[in-house]
Amino acid sequence: MTLRGRFGKEMDDRVKGYTVSVPFDRRLYRQDIAGSIAHARMMARQGIISDKNAELITMGLVSIREEIEQGRFEFKEELEDIHMNIEARLIEKIGDAGAKLHTARSRNDQIALDMRLFTKEAVSETMARIKALQQALLDLAKDNKRLVMPGYTHLQRAQPVLFAHHLLAYFQMFQRDTERFQQCFERTDVLPLGSGALAGVPYPIDRDFLAKELGFSKVSANSMDAVSDRDFVIEYLSAASLTMMHISRLAEEIILWSTAEFGFIEIDDAFATGSSIMPQKKNPDVAELARAKTGRVYGHLIAALTTMKALPLSYNRDLQEDKEGLFDSVDTLLSTLEVFAPMIASLHIRSDHISRAAEENYTLATDIADYLVKKGVPFRQAHAIVGNLVRYAIDNQKTLLEIELSEYRKFYPDFENDVKSITVESSLATRNTSGGTAPEAVEKALAAARRMLHGTQD
Ligand code: ARG
Repeated sequence: MTLRGRFGKEMDDRVKGYTVSVPFDRRLYRQDIAGSIAHARMMARQGIISDKNAELITMGLVSIREEIEQGRFEFKEELEDIHMNIEARLIEKIGDAGAKLHTARSRNDQIALDMRLFTKEAVSETMARIKALQQALLDLAKDNKRLVMPGYTHLQRAQPVLFAHHLLAYFQMFQRDTERFQQCFERTDVLPLGSGALAGVPYPIDRDFLAKELGFSKVSANSMDAVSDRDFVIEYLSAASLTMMHISRLAEEIILWSTAEFGFIEIDDAFATGSSIMPQKKNPDVAELARAKTGRVYGHLIAALTTMKALPLSYNRDLQEDKEGLFDSVDTLLSTLEVFAPMIASLHIRSDHISRAAEENYTLATDIADYLVKKGVPFRQAHAIVGNLVRYAIDNQKTLLEIELSEYRKFYPDFENDVKSITVESSLATRNTSGGTAPEAVEKALAAARRMLHGTQD
């Protein structure tokens, strides 16, 4: 007798092929087994199954985990998903005791549990890797503390800034990402097991015990929500999208900076690629791929939001579609962070090129306008005066430092000799507001960044 139950026919092969999930949800075997062991223990404590059966179930599941990890487990597509594959093997191994495991449980709360356990681990790993990238940025900033570069707006040279200040801007972005993942973790850290198919279960279960066994700090408050909520997946995808967006901005700068046109950095040989035709090429492929892979993570976010949109309560098979996008996003983000941090750490900084660029293209013009403001000239007027001065300097192919005081005075009579003491260094030093680029402010920002990473000064 087959166990097709209420069905009078075998399932069509095309339906089997279309609905099967074990090719991808097999990745959840560890979480699934951990959840089942906790469930069996809880049921024994509550007298729902015998201690003996719980013992058999636990031993059986542990040996199945070994089979999987040693590549000896035979995943069967006809068994549809990871849950049925493991359960069927358990029954094969221990008989009737195994058939009791699915008491007081449904695959609906089971998969919600597996996904939360998976996501919590993924978040922890992601946060550790973001931290490693922040450390690489911080080290690079510390090693080049005094280096001045041109800051850009519209990708045009704007005002001098410290290179460390520029790097710390990324540190801040990744700090916000870390906070988002932390919040994602807190909302993922809720036990859904014990919700049954949707309505709860008619057994005296102990959900607090399950939560403790499985490391959750809370239990879900509504069984219908618990089996159909995938907000935590979307929150991971959303935080991952923002992190990839930040990585791709940094990637773009790495790519630009390593061009001959910028010449600010050189990517270490170990993190660069060559051309199959042009022998001289050294390409920033890692940064380019990181920039590109951002797209697929965004795609998974939109896919998940769209899948969830207008889903009626409670569980629907649509929810099976949450997995591949999450897995791919986790893999993409983790592998990107894994290679990006050492690439940043090994960058060669061409300090001479960077600091020369900081002075070129009249980056001190704003400081000269501010100089006039201190002499009582309204800022708008000062802006126009210095604009004319820059026009004159461009026409005469001079830098602002090369212009004589007499020439300055043609544009405004109150210019004094001290206008010549406006330098990149003085420009930086005056921006000593909190969050500014003055060496003193950046020194404080570096110390604050160290504290954020390690909770100490050093
Ligand atoms: N493969 C399913 C999923 O990923 C597991 C839960 C199946 N539940 C069900 N009632 N068919 O969502």
